[in-house]
Amino acid sequence: KFENLAQTPPLGWNSWNTFGTDINEQLVKDIADKFIKLGLKDAGYQYIVLDDGWMAKERDENGNLVADPEKFPNGMKHLADYIHSKGLKFGLYNCAGSQTCAGYPGSRGHEYQDARSYASWDVDYLKYDWCNTGKINAESAYTTMRDALYAAGRPIVFSICEWGDNEPWKWAKDIGHLWRVTGDIINCWDCEVGHGSWQSSGVWKIINMRKDVRKVAGPGHWNDYDMMEVGNGMTDAEDRSHFAMWNMLASPLIMGNDLRTAPKETIKTLTNTEVIAVNQDKLGIQGFRFTNENNMEIWLKPLDNNEWAMTFVNMSNHPIDFVFDWTKHGIGDDVNGKWLDVKNNIFKIRDVFNHKNLGDTSKELKANIGAHDVVMIKLEIL
Ligand code: DGJ
Repeated sequence: KFENLAQTPPLGWNSWNTFGTDINEQLVKDIADKFIKLGLKDAGYQYIVLDDGWMAKERDENGNLVADPEKFPNGMKHLADYIHSKGLKFGLYNCAGSQTCAGYPGSRGHEYQDARSYASWDVDYLKYDWCNTGKINAESAYTTMRDALYAAGRPIVFSICEWGDNEPWKWAKDIGHLWRVTGDIINCWDCEVGHGSWQSSGVWKIINMRKDVRKVAGPGHWNDYDMMEVGNGMTDAEDRSHFAMWNMLASPLIMGNDLRTAPKETIKTLTNTEVIAVNQDKLGIQGFRFTNENNMEIWLKPLDNNEWAMTFVNMSNHPIDFVFDWTKHGIGDDVNGKWLDVKNNIFKIRDVFNHKNLGDTSKELKANIGAHDVVMIKLEIL
């Protein structure tokens, strides 16, 4: 694969969560314009990715993929040029099977040809799905597409969308730059909709679905907790917690809301650069759960320069007066051999969500946290 891509988790937008297959050229151009106007580009968002539904139902007479002529009358190169002219990057979707999940032509048997099409359209990112795959082996199917992209010669981030059944965290590190760890996300806090392969899961169901995957994440190869549902119907507090967690998990931050109509509060959450800096930390260590007692989820993420990010999420339906006594906890990350030594050091506490200093670890941390809301801090040795 192309080795120097996605050294930090990719940031961008994908059409699926809000629009499904109902996408078109004007929508994508409007989204690109919003990246600039709303400060999303300045906050680090880069990729605009078209999911399922961009293609015509049939390949052309030479077997080449073609964009749907009604939705995308000027084709994909035109759209790529537009997106690039804004200093952004362009992504497309296809599938390892004979057809995509929505029934458009899949790449099976056309991998090298399709990779050449993407390269000729100046595509920068490919999301590669897992429908209609019959009995093919996932690792070899994704390896074929990786090799095809590499052969086509254009550096393209390769996003593996296999849903976790074949445990991509065990084999995908040298194949893709990110891989989904679960089935689809849905816009709720902790619900489940549907069942079997068609189950969609709320934010906390997704977070809790896989164990022991964090050690595999790092620069160039990330666990993908799916596109975000920030701005898609949860409360502002839930959106903040969801966003905080995707940053703690070093997950790709791919927005999935309608940026044309997004309220201020949603954009404020999505563009919080102190929070995003936790996600983009150059060590690329995925955060982990410290405890979840008394309705409080406490998560940690070691950062560069011996700093730490720490996140407290109130899982209850009422506000909690929360006290954290630093002297009562031994905090460490044995996977990475890192210790938050609050006994021998005093750390400054920075509230990264609200851009405020909260004193230091020589005193207890006290906070009132609203229902499903979050306190996210950074600890820095004084
Ligand atoms: C399943 C994937 O998990 C979704 O993210 C989306 O790409 C759809 N397929 C598109 O059909």
